[in-house]
Amino acid sequence: MNKVEPLRIRDFLVFQELLTRDEQEALVGDIRQIAQAAPLFSPVTPGGRKMSVQMTSGGALGWVTDRSGYRYQPHHPNGADWPAIPASVLKIWEAVAGVARAPDCCLVNFYGEGAKMGMHQDKDEGNFDWPVVSVSLGDEALFRMGSVERGGATDSLWLKSGDVVVMGGAARLAYHGVDKIRFGSSTLLPKGGRINLTLRAVDQG
Ligand code: SIN
Ligand code: FE2
Repeated sequence: MNKVEPLRIRDFLVFQELLTRDEQEALVGDIRQIAQAAPLFSPVTPGGRKMSVQMTSGGALGWVTDRSGYRYQPHHPNGADWPAIPASVLKIWEAVAGVARAPDCCLVNFYGEGAKMGMHQDKDEGNFDWPVVSVSLGDEALFRMGSVERGGATDSLWLKSGDVVVMGGAARLAYHGVDKIRFGSSTLLPKGGRINLTLRAVDQG
C-alpha cells in the first residue's frame, strides 16, 4: 500500500491511490474467485426496481435486497454460503478503519456501462460505531457525498482505481451515491467496468 494522507470531504476520508497497481490486480483475482463461488446477481429494490449494479458478497453475512426488503443474510440467494473475505481485502480494513474488530461483510458491487447508485444511507448494520470502508477498482466513478440529511448539500469527487474511502464518525450515516462511471477509463478490467467493495461490521452478537 502507498503511504497517503487522506483528503477529508464532509467527514468522508478519501485515501487517493492507496492501492498499488499490483495490489489492485491481486484484488481483482480474489474478487473473481468470490464471483465464481457466489455469482453476481441483479438485485431488486423492495419497491420492485431492478438496480443497475450487479452484486455479490464475501463474509459471514452478505447484503441482499428483493421484494421482501433490504437485509443481511448468511447465504447467497441461491442458498450457498458466501465465500470468505479475502486476506487482501481484510488488510485494507486493518490499514484504514482504525478499529479493533474485523468486518464480517464484503459487499461486491459491479458497475457495467451506464450503472449508477442513487443517494442512500448504509443503515442496515445495527451499530454505527464501526466505519464502512469502500474500495474502488477499475473505471472512475463520480461519487457524491452528503450529510445525514436527505436532499442536503453535497460534494462530488471522481474516485479512481485504488482509492479507498472511509465512512466513519459523522460520515457513517451520511447520504452517498454514484452518479455515473466513465466506462473504459481504466485498464484494470480488460472489458471495462468498475468494482466497488464495501466492508462492513454487521454482527453485533
Ligand atoms: C455503496 O455505497 O454501496 C457503493 C459506493 C461506491 O460504489 O463507491
Ligand atoms: Fe453505500
